[in-house]
Amino acid sequence: MNFSKQIFLDHIAQTTPFPYSITVDRAEGIYLYSPEGKRYTDLIAGIGVSNVGHRHPKVIEAIKEQLDKHLHVMVYGEFIQSTPNLLAKKLADLLPSTLNCTYFVNSGTEANEGALKLAKRFTGRTELISCRKSYHGSTHGAMSVSGNEIKKRAFRPLLPDVRFIDFNNLEHLDQITQRTACVIMETVQGDAGVRIPSKEYMKAVRKKCTDTGALFILDEIQCGMGRTGSLFAFEQFDVTPDILTIGKAFGGGLPIGAFIADKRVMECLTINPMLGHITTFGGNPVCCASALATLDVIADENLLNQVDEKGRLFESLLVHSKIKEVRRIGLMFAFDFDSEERVNRIVTLAREAGIICYWFLSNPHSFRIAPPLTITEEQIRESCAVILKVIDNS
Ligand SMILES: Cc1ncc(COP(=O)(O)O)c(C=O)c1O
Repeated sequence: MNFSKQIFLDHIAQTTPFPYSITVDRAEGIYLYSPEGKRYTDLIAGIGVSNVGHRHPKVIEAIKEQLDKHLHVMVYGEFIQSTPNLLAKKLADLLPSTLNCTYFVNSGTEANEGALKLAKRFTGRTELISCRKSYHGSTHGAMSVSGNEIKKRAFRPLLPDVRFIDFNNLEHLDQITQRTACVIMETVQGDAGVRIPSKEYMKAVRKKCTDTGALFILDEIQCGMGRTGSLFAFEQFDVTPDILTIGKAFGGGLPIGAFIADKRVMECLTINPMLGHITTFGGNPVCCASALATLDVIADENLLNQVDEKGRLFESLLVHSKIKEVRRIGLMFAFDFDSEERVNRIVTLAREAGIICYWFLSNPHSFRIAPPLTITEEQIRESCAVILKVIDNS
């Protein structure tokens, strides 16, 4: 074993000059353990991934079962394999009837890349509309439709013909026209600091897309898979997207994403040109086994019915005069403070106290909490007691 921080800094590409840097030897449920046995409570679920906890026994069992059958056998879309078949059928059964065909990919950003290409191909149009403050991923196309200009500037030129509107602003919907290939938005904006749209707004976006022939893409990579209290967040807003993108918690800890649409739409990627979107590892059978077991765990353990109650418990316990605002849907929280410095102190002090909460990409005055949905009442009470002390000392 080697937990050398120097090797980590020298030989693993870094994304910030100040990586969080805890050493992790193993993980179980809502806890991570360092090699010295220090326990950390993971209140961010590996950033929206471990919704059923780390190493859920049923997920591990399904992975092992698939390992004993086969790993990768062929690039995406050529061979018939049972596990991806079962997963695609399960998704079709769980989703509205127009979301019946799944394209499996390897990550969230890749799901959005596929969705944008599909919208351009299906409509024959080029304009992409997205929302300010959104985050859709780090590859060129997904970055082009992400809102954070500071992060994008150094990588221009990006995709042309991208237009930004304000999230949850009805007046800006006039900008969706018959030139628009698609409108892409997060059902709940995550990295903007948990921004929840009104039902009226979502229905108006849906109508405007239908009226103009633009495709409506909902990115549920962060807010999907039970995080908001329904399996898919859009269920709470009475809308159905034309394309749904998922990732993160979908794989239960293994890397897999997907874009999902009607078969009639998805067929555009099959012809003119053939192989319009391809991937080697998308739909990897081990990742599919893990995703299938994760969906079963969410259903078998009745997790969706517990999300709001647990969220309300957090909210009732985490009351402090230094908290300026709380935004919550299900078990997805942003806590706002008066300064970025205080948020930094809170995240750092919490880490020292064995609690992992974290920053947002585009909202420096807040920290996030989005724990595994399996967290118990006792664990919520214990965590909140520590966080309140940390906020006292911040
Ligand atoms: C809403 C949303 N979309 C897309 C992504 C990109 O996903 P990935 O990091 O798997 O590429 C993220 C990641 O944070 C996200 O939160």
